[in-house]
Amino acid sequence: MDRIRIVGGNQLHGVIPISGAKNAALPLMIASLLTDDTLTLENVPHLADVEQLIRILGNHGADISVNGRRERQGESYARTIHFTSRNIVSTTAPYELVSKMRASFWVIGPLLAREGKARVSLPGGCAIGTRPVDLFIEGLAALGANIEIDGGYIDATAPEGGLTGGRYVFPKVSVGATHVLMMAATLANGTTVIGNAAREPEVADLAKCLNAMGAKITGAGTGTITIEGVRSLSGARHRVLPDRIETGTYAMAVAMTGGDVILEDTDSSLLETALEAIRRTGAEISETNSGIRVVRNGAGIRPVDIVTDPFPGFPTDLQAQFMGLMTKSSGVSHITETIFENRFMHVQELARLGAKISLSGQTAKIEGVSRLKGAPVMATDLRASVSLVIAGLAAEGETMVSRVYHLDRGFERLEEKLTRCGAHVERVSD
Ligand code: UD1
Repeated sequence: MDRIRIVGGNQLHGVIPISGAKNAALPLMIASLLTDDTLTLENVPHLADVEQLIRILGNHGADISVNGRRERQGESYARTIHFTSRNIVSTTAPYELVSKMRASFWVIGPLLAREGKARVSLPGGCAIGTRPVDLFIEGLAALGANIEIDGGYIDATAPEGGLTGGRYVFPKVSVGATHVLMMAATLANGTTVIGNAAREPEVADLAKCLNAMGAKITGAGTGTITIEGVRSLSGARHRVLPDRIETGTYAMAVAMTGGDVILEDTDSSLLETALEAIRRTGAEISETNSGIRVVRNGAGIRPVDIVTDPFPGFPTDLQAQFMGLMTKSSGVSHITETIFENRFMHVQELARLGAKISLSGQTAKIEGVSRLKGAPVMATDLRASVSLVIAGLAAEGETMVSRVYHLDRGFERLEEKLTRCGAHVERVSD
C-alpha cells in the first residue's frame, strides 16, 4: 500500500494548477443519467472517486469515453469525459459499489426521475459521523415517491405518470440531498420549490449544467431553488468549476511553510471565508488574472478561531487543514465543527507530530507549538489526511503518512504539485 514520505522544512515557491472540483464532478457525472443524449464534462479531475463513479455509472448502462489531455507540461491532467446513457440497463446500485463512496447514493435521483424506480444501497464513504439519509427520503417523498427500506437498500418508486413537483424545506442544510432533489425535480410534472437549499458553489454548477441540458432551474446558489419540470433533457458540454477545497488546502500549506505560490485556474470568490481566515493568520492573499497568489514571509502564524458552517461559511472540508496550520501558531486557537459530529480523527495523528490539541465536545483547542517533529502517521479520512501533509511540510525531519488511498480519493497529483514548489514529498510504494 502506498505511503507519502515528507521531509519538512522547505518553503513553497512556484505555481500550483488547481484541478476541477471533485465535489462538482461527481454530481455532474451522475446528472448524465438523466438523459439518453451525451453529456460532455471538461476539467474532470483524475481521482479515485471519479474512477469509482465511472464504474457505478457503467453498471447502470452509461457508455463512457475519456479524452486525456496533457496540459501545462504535465502538471495537471484535466480530462474531458463523455457520458452517454442511451438506455438504463439497471436501476439497482449494489452495496459493493455504493459502500465505497457516499456520493454514489445520489444516483437515486436521476434513476427515479427517468425510470420511475431505483433500488440503491445505503451509502458508505468517509467515517466522519453517522451521515443518515433521512433528508433524501423526505425530499423525494415530497415529489410523490414511495420509499421503503429493505435489507440495507432503499427502494424508491415514482407514482404512475412520474414524479410530481412539490415543495420541501430542508430542516438541515444538505449538499447531497439538494443535488438529488434538484436532479429528480428536473423531470417531474410541475414545479418544485426547495427551501433551505445548500448554497455551495457546486450546487450552482450542477444547476448551470442541468439548465444547459434543458432544465428550468432558478435560484441555485441561494437558499431557495425553483425547478420547473420538463419532459426530457438533452446532452450538453460543461466545464467543471475549480476545486475550492484544493485551493484552500494549498493556500494553507503556503501559510504554514512560508513562501510565495500562485494557485492557478481558481477563483477566490469560491472560498472567501476561508481565505479571510488564512489572511488573519498572517499570509497575504491577492488575486491574479487566473487565480490567487499566497505569500507568507518572515512573520509567524497568528492564532485564529474558526467555526465551520454551510456555504458561505468556513467549509468543514477545510477544517482539518486549518487545524494543521494552527498547530504552529504563536498562541491559542479554537476550531468548532458544526457539520459532522465525528470529524476530529486527525487530532490524535497531529499530536504524534507534537501538536497540542484538546477536545471539548465539538470544539478543539489548539495551543501552538514552535516546532513539530516528523513521525509516522495514519490518514483517517480524505481531508484529515491532507492536514497531516500540511503539518509534515513544516515538521522537522521525516513524516510518513500511511493509508494514502484516502488522499487519492480527492487530491490529484498532490506530491507532484508540492514537489514542483520545492517541497520534499514522495510516494513510496511497498
Ligand atoms: C458533501 C461533500 C462533503 C462535505 C459535505 C458538507 C460531496 C461529494 N461531498 O457531502 O465533502 O463535507 O457536503 O459540506 O460533495 N445529513 C442528515 N441527513 C441526510 C443528509 C445529511 O442528517 O439525509 C447530515 C449529515 O450527516 C451532515 C450534514 O447533514 O451532518 C451535512 O451533510 P451533507 O451536506 O449532506 O454532506 P454530503 O452531501 O454527504
